[in-house]
Amino acid sequence: MKIFVYSASLRKESINLKLSKLIAKVAEANGAEVDFARMSDFDMPAFNMDDQQSSGIPAGAQALADRITNSDGMILTSPEYNWLPPATIKNAVDWLSRIQPVPLDKKSVLLSSASPSLVGGVRGLMSLRISFEALGTWVYPKMFTLAQAPGAFDDDGNIANEDLAKMLNAMVADYCSAAVALNNR
Ligand SMILES: Cc1cc2nc3c(=O)[nH]c(=O)nc-3n(C[C@H](O)[C@H](O)[C@H](O)COP(=O)(O)O)c2cc1C
Repeated sequence: MKIFVYSASLRKESINLKLSKLIAKVAEANGAEVDFARMSDFDMPAFNMDDQQSSGIPAGAQALADRITNSDGMILTSPEYNWLPPATIKNAVDWLSRIQPVPLDKKSVLLSSASPSLVGGVRGLMSLRISFEALGTWVYPKMFTLAQAPGAFDDDGNIANEDLAKMLNAMVADYCSAAVALNNR
């Protein structure tokens, strides 16, 4: 099973990047082959239909689509900005939606977020899942949100709280096996 682990923050010292690196490790421990990428790996302009009509799909969006298509499933880790996902990830989803066949259709995704707030990034993920569902993506019902994230990791990059670490492991393990069954259904 091949899982695409995608970190949606552009920030070098991103707490979401840290969480997605841990998720990649957990997925591998559960038997997945991981393909890892971050937002800055895929350059794409703000979506403008005029640009699409004159220049087609940007190379960054096509490269992201190919990585998704070549995996059985995807685990996305996204920050929350003003209770919504950052414009960059919504922009990426908008570009992906213009590719035929839509690479997110009949794929699945597990959504996760890290945030300094007391509630994690769950509000942003709630709205992000709507766009995925609009495109035919199987969105795993549970979402992993790491609250107070800057202080939540130990020195090895693991989640210090044992119950939370177990919860993440169980969710990733269950999602990875579901992803294979859901791929292209
Ligand atoms: C423009 C902006 C808006 C933000 N809004 C929220 C928010 O609504 N909820 C939240 O939990 N954190 C919010 N934050 C704090 C981010 O969660 C924090 O900066 C986090 O480190 C961003 O993720 P990253 O480290 O992976 O880049 C906001 C930060 C910025 C810069």
